Amino acid sequence: MIDTHCHLEKEYYDDIDEIIGKCKNFGVDKIIVSGYNLDSSKEMLNLANKYDNIYATIGISPQDVDEASNNDLILLEELLKDKKVVGIGEIGLDYHYTKENKEKQKQLFITQLRLAKKYNLPVVIHSRDAINDTYEILKSENIECGTMHCYSGSLEYAHKFIDLGLYLSIGGVSTFKNAKEIKKVIENISLDNLLLETDSPYLAPEPHRGKKNYPYYIPLIAQNIANIKKISVDEVKNKTVLNTTKLFDI
Ligand code: NI
Repeated sequence: MIDTHCHLEKEYYDDIDEIIGKCKNFGVDKIIVSGYNLDSSKEMLNLANKYDNIYATIGISPQDVDEASNNDLILLEELLKDKKVVGIGEIGLDYHYTKENKEKQKQLFITQLRLAKKYNLPVVIHSRDAINDTYEILKSENIECGTMHCYSGSLEYAHKFIDLGLYLSIGGVSTFKNAKEIKKVIENISLDNLLLETDSPYLAPEPHRGKKNYPYYIPLIAQNIANIKKISVDEVKNKTVLNTTKLFDI
């Protein structure tokens, strides 16, 4: 299996090498670590360069818009040339905490989407309380290669993102008792369009809800999808690995 999105940063974990070693025992063979500003992007890329089975996506997230400078974008573009970078993200729109800088968020989002096109890289999209603006921008920028990270939108929008050519990444929230909408999405969307992710250290799946998350919890998310779709867990594992390999070319 592959964890397509997590944040294995020193700030959250004292024992990153141990965690990476442990993943293999749980059948998690590859991990994509994700940056959200210039510093974390650099840290994740360094980690990816330390291990054969770790890859990085890098980018500046909407929460980091106000701290990011134009120079950060120039430096980010330099980092994109590293062969361990497999995508741009997480990038997107987040109106949950910060509505005041909507225009700035959109601008940074569009700039990075164009970088992805320029370097022919898939995008990893963060979208919170901003699903329609996210969709409209992805559509008008002709983005057809990427994934909706930690997808939590409706079934209607799930179809719209898939029609653009994007995948939906399913994380720990799908295991929560009250996650009715995402369960409906999993039930109705083909495995061909799904990826697995933990978003560690956040959003740990049941039975670890509320505690720290780890990439080796991926099997719990796979099993939950198998239960919801009433198929074997092997089918979920094989298909999501195939999807991930295709999207990120790893
Ligand atoms: Ni994340």
